[in-house]
Amino acid sequence: MLSRFFLRFPELGFLGIDQDDQALVMAAQRLECFGERVLLLKSNFKHIDEIVKTYLLKEENADAILFDLGVSSLQLDDEERGFSFNKEGPIDMRMDKDATVTACDLINKLTYDELAKIFYEYGEERFSRLLARAIVRHRDRYGQISSTSELVDIIRGALPAKVQRRMGKHPARRVFQALRIAVNDELNALKMGLEKSAGCVRSGGIIVVLSYHSLEDRLVKHTFKRWETDGLGSLYTKKPISPKAEEIKSNPRSRSAKLRAFAKF
Ligand SMILES: C[S@@+](CC[C@H](N)C(=O)[O-])C[C@H]1O[C@@H](n2cnc3c(N)ncnc32)[C@H](O)[C@@H]1O
Repeated sequence: MLSRFFLRFPELGFLGIDQDDQALVMAAQRLECFGERVLLLKSNFKHIDEIVKTYLLKEENADAILFDLGVSSLQLDDEERGFSFNKEGPIDMRMDKDATVTACDLINKLTYDELAKIFYEYGEERFSRLLARAIVRHRDRYGQISSTSELVDIIRGALPAKVQRRMGKHPARRVFQALRIAVNDELNALKMGLEKSAGCVRSGGIIVVLSYHSLEDRLVKHTFKRWETDGLGSLYTKKPISPKAEEIKSNPRSRSAKLRAFAKF
């Protein structure tokens, strides 16, 4: 998609941020042909203000900022990264490999109350207390929990079969989401990055956010509404834009995506 923009707008430059080294390597390969028009940096969205200030040389502010949130297929498909409940691997889940705390640390070191809070707040898991209790009990009996499949088995073993049948989705989905959000401090980074982005876009510019679950989308929706009330600009999308059936067919992971955009006055 970016290639099309480069061809259409010869003046366009692109500054890309990701906290994952592998994502940056892949993006650098894909965009190599655009030479100096592309600058890729390892950083966190929450530092967007410093990055824009340091690296946007020609202009004071960006024309547009796009936040593509959450986890990538690159991360989900690599069992060694530990993001997927469908793959056997270490319970890692760090997007930034230089970060020190893994999901394994959280699972093995947090108290019952702390685990339950994370599962409830970041996974919206109805059975947060039951699952936290099962994890702590397993730890006490058998020691360290170290693989994704071990964690999935504990979750499956704790939830009544009737509940699992009614769930429709994988029973470990919410716990994995919660752990991933906690390890990468995703909601806080989004909150900070979004707030700062308003000061990094030029007048008439646009801020676009692609989110993949309701916690992210709610935060974006409320921030944009507040900005509109404060007279900072107007909602470019009154309702979030979701992928069409054809897109979901060719890319099933896009099914939960929601795009919201805000135009700055
Ligand atoms: C849905 S993927 C999108 C990847 C890319 N836009 C693409 O289309 O291939 C989200 C990416 O955002 C990165 N990410 C998530 N939260 C981040 C944050 N707070 N700071 C920097 N990168 C982040 C992840 O590492 C991941 O590579």
